[in-house]
Amino acid sequence: MAVDLLLGLQWGDEGKGKIVDVLTQNYNLISRFQGGPNAGHTLIFDGHKHVLHTIPSGIFHKEAINVVGNGVVIDPVIFNKEIKDLSQFDIDFKKVLLISRKAHLILPTHRLLDAASEKAKGKDKIGSTLKGIGPTYMDKTGRNGMRVGDLELDNWKEVFEKLAQKHISMLDFYNVELDYDFGALKEQFFTAVEKLKELTFIDSEEYLHQAIKNNETILAEGAQGSLLDVDFGTYPFVTSSNTTAAGACTGLGIAPNQIGEVFGIFKAYTTRVGSGPFPTELFDEDGATMAKIGNEFGATTGRARRCGWLDMVALKYACQVNGVTQLNMMKADVLSGFETLKVCTAYQYKGETITHFPYNIEPENVQPIYTELKGWKEDLTGMTSEDQLPQALLDYIDFVEKSTGIKITIVSVGPDRKQTIER
Ligand code: GDP
Ligand code: IMO
Ligand code: MG
Repeated sequence: MAVDLLLGLQWGDEGKGKIVDVLTQNYNLISRFQGGPNAGHTLIFDGHKHVLHTIPSGIFHKEAINVVGNGVVIDPVIFNKEIKDLSQFDIDFKKVLLISRKAHLILPTHRLLDAASEKAKGKDKIGSTLKGIGPTYMDKTGRNGMRVGDLELDNWKEVFEKLAQKHISMLDFYNVELDYDFGALKEQFFTAVEKLKELTFIDSEEYLHQAIKNNETILAEGAQGSLLDVDFGTYPFVTSSNTTAAGACTGLGIAPNQIGEVFGIFKAYTTRVGSGPFPTELFDEDGATMAKIGNEFGATTGRARRCGWLDMVALKYACQVNGVTQLNMMKADVLSGFETLKVCTAYQYKGETITHFPYNIEPENVQPIYTELKGWKEDLTGMTSEDQLPQALLDYIDFVEKSTGIKITIVSVGPDRKQTIER
């Protein structure tokens, strides 16, 4: 099978960037299939730290081709900044970074609409990254969007103007105070588009089809996480794309029977950034310790991430929706030093004990039921093989494997590319 997937199983920030970077040596092609610059994928190697937003995490491997698929939404301004931030790496972007003509563009006015919508919602806001993701996908499904391929038209500026003016009139509806200079935003966008046009635009579904025919190996890199999926996540506190396995088919134009391995990636605990329910969230010293040791701040917005225990109800649900074939457990090092570790194995839901992920996980309906496991004290960050891992961690791994029925093939013990144990 030619296309493997790597997906987040929680609320994002599981460490997808790091593992895609580690796995890229096994692939010819890395492709993003959904989301946009709401994502922040961190890679650390040779003393460098990089956060990628739209560019696939295979970009540091000279032999790999990186494809931004049709399901992605692109903000030319952010995209160019990402490229600029990589200038020290001598990357031939025109050759190794290919962009689907069918990918939709985030206009500056999409960002304004995102901000206006959030402001109007007040305390009920989604906690969006304010990158314009929701409004851009709304225009896509509403059949009003502007695509990368439109930039090849002579009149693309008119297409832009028409859509942007529509957005400006929509802003009135929200009736909130927004400070912006449309002229300056437009100029910034036009300049960024000229730079974007220096890259290679492709019919990516055809390109990938040919790659599959030529037996090239492809890894599709998910963004966000399964619990932020617009259908299966904690709606409405979700993003606006299908972050789950099916999203790779629609976001790349690959058929379901072309999918091979599905790597499901999760933290040894749980984090969430933005609003929305989170049954195992901790408000005590333990949560503060996870946040501190795990350095839990959003890679895109810098916001503090909420922290809590591992939730097996949610994890099993995500494995089921995605058809996960291999698990990757991240940030095991962060749990060193806890006397006991709690793992949620069921929910008390409206007075009943359930083990499936229900329609609504609002705190008034759901209380987590925990199993306790023994913690470990050892510092894992210098460990390089499974036989060095403490028994309590091996028991923790075993517990997750037994409850999901899926093997954990990678255990990550630090943010660096090298701090990765394959089993
Ligand atoms: P992504 O969005 O899934 O790519 O994840 P992010 O990059 O947003 O967040 C993951 C964070 O955890 C980043 O700061 C990584 O450098 C860091 N990280 C990844 N794996 C590990 C690990 O095993 N241990 C520790 N301590 N940090 C890790
Ligand atoms: P990566 O790929 C974590 C969250 C936001 C908010 C909700 C909707 O780095 O894992 P949006 O901007 O999409 O309208 O925000 O989704 N969110 C993420 N949380 N990691 C991400 O991406 C996220 N992308 C969006 O915080 O709650
Ligand atoms: Mg992230």
